[in-house]
Amino acid sequence: MTTATDPRVLQTLDGDPWDIDAYLKIGGYEAWKKCVKELSATDIVNELKKAGLRGRGGAGFPTGIKWEKVLNHRVKEHYFVCNAGEHEPGTFKDRHLLKLAPHQLIEGCLIGAYTVHAKAAFIYVNHEYHEERENLKKALAQAKERGFLGKNAMGSGLDIDLQVFEGHGSYVAGEETAMLESMQGRPAMPRQKPPFYPTDFGLYGKPTLVNNVETLCNIPRIIQKGAAWFMQVGTEKCPGTMMFSLSGAVNRPGVYERPMGITIRELIETCGGGVPGGRKIKAVFPGGPAFSMVTADQLDLTMDFDSLKKAGTGLGSAGMIVVDDATCMVAKTLHFSNFFKGESCGQCPPCRMGTINLAALMTKIEQGEGTQKDLDSLLQLCGFVKGTGYCTLVTGAAVLVQSSMKLFRHEFEEHIRLQRCPYQPVVAGVTAH
Ligand SMILES: Cc1cc2nc3c(=O)[nH]c(=O)nc-3n(C[C@H](O)[C@H](O)[C@H](O)COP(=O)(O)O)c2cc1C
Repeated sequence: MTTATDPRVLQTLDGDPWDIDAYLKIGGYEAWKKCVKELSATDIVNELKKAGLRGRGGAGFPTGIKWEKVLNHRVKEHYFVCNAGEHEPGTFKDRHLLKLAPHQLIEGCLIGAYTVHAKAAFIYVNHEYHEERENLKKALAQAKERGFLGKNAMGSGLDIDLQVFEGHGSYVAGEETAMLESMQGRPAMPRQKPPFYPTDFGLYGKPTLVNNVETLCNIPRIIQKGAAWFMQVGTEKCPGTMMFSLSGAVNRPGVYERPMGITIRELIETCGGGVPGGRKIKAVFPGGPAFSMVTADQLDLTMDFDSLKKAGTGLGSAGMIVVDDATCMVAKTLHFSNFFKGESCGQCPPCRMGTINLAALMTKIEQGEGTQKDLDSLLQLCGFVKGTGYCTLVTGAAVLVQSSMKLFRHEFEEHIRLQRCPYQPVVAGVTAH
């Protein structure tokens, strides 16, 4: 159970989330005032480092260190971008925060942009999040009207602005360097990292601070209440809470804010209300389709960056997808293989061709037309493409297939033996699809 004093990111508002008065009533913009009036940029960075906050966009990079890199960069023209590109299947927590905490996000962005002395600051929002984007603009206009941003913000002599940028609308465009490319009017294709990390070579080739929505929503709370408060929950190396997107075979899909280190079981049973129809869990994607699955005997694994990595999978942006025992794993894998194929930007040949060929082989097997040799080819192809490309898209596509074949090879074999999907009923000799 969380209580009002728990270190939570998301606070309950009495009123419309985009209405500034509701946010001011719960201490909104106090952290921002504190930053401008009392703290130096180094004080802010030190507090974040002390809190041990790690990025919630997928990689779990320490936020304070990232801010420090941009702040102290030898090149002095800096930019700030909030990444609200969110496009991964099963991840919808940033949308939830945009919907319920737009002012808190704005406050986190202002603190980020201010700390790294950004020349310009942007919030890059998934183009499909139309309502959230419009409400964010309303919230921004209100904050401006009240003098929290704009010229001479809060009478401090500081000029600071935030612009909402409509996203490109692809999964790869959420990868930070692809996002920056698309913001400059170019195709949303990733840059090579290293050397082109945004902290060195970001927007317009200048040092740029890029952070995820949830990461930034944590900032005002940490500044206002302090690192010790934030570290009350979570694990030693992953303090704080996480917004878990829970979907698939659960009775109550949704976004749940819980401490880092909660078990998979607790999330599914306590938050998700278990599996519908009393069915059994067959598999869980703890960090979305780009990381390995776990099986029903691993439900006591804890959800944080380090434990899941140690278990051979990953937390990513914590989009947990639950799969029940009525599901064909070959069909499930094909579904996500097709997603990766459709989302490859085509820049890197191993990704462009690899995702097409993985999906083609998966389709052949799922339709009952596969051979034993296709299974070997699938694994061989995964080995070839894994770890290649400028971003991790093709690695995710390969990990998905490898994980599925490792855990559910018998289902692949059954498709080959029966020449059809064993999960599809056969009606008068014809497979019903
Ligand atoms: C294919 C791909 C898609 C990504 N999509 C997103 C996204 O939608 N939102 C996000 O914050 N990070 C996304 N990331 C991670 C970002 O590149 C980056 O690590 C993150 O925005 C940094 O913010 P953080 O340090 O606050 O986590 C994606 C990465 C990859 C490889």
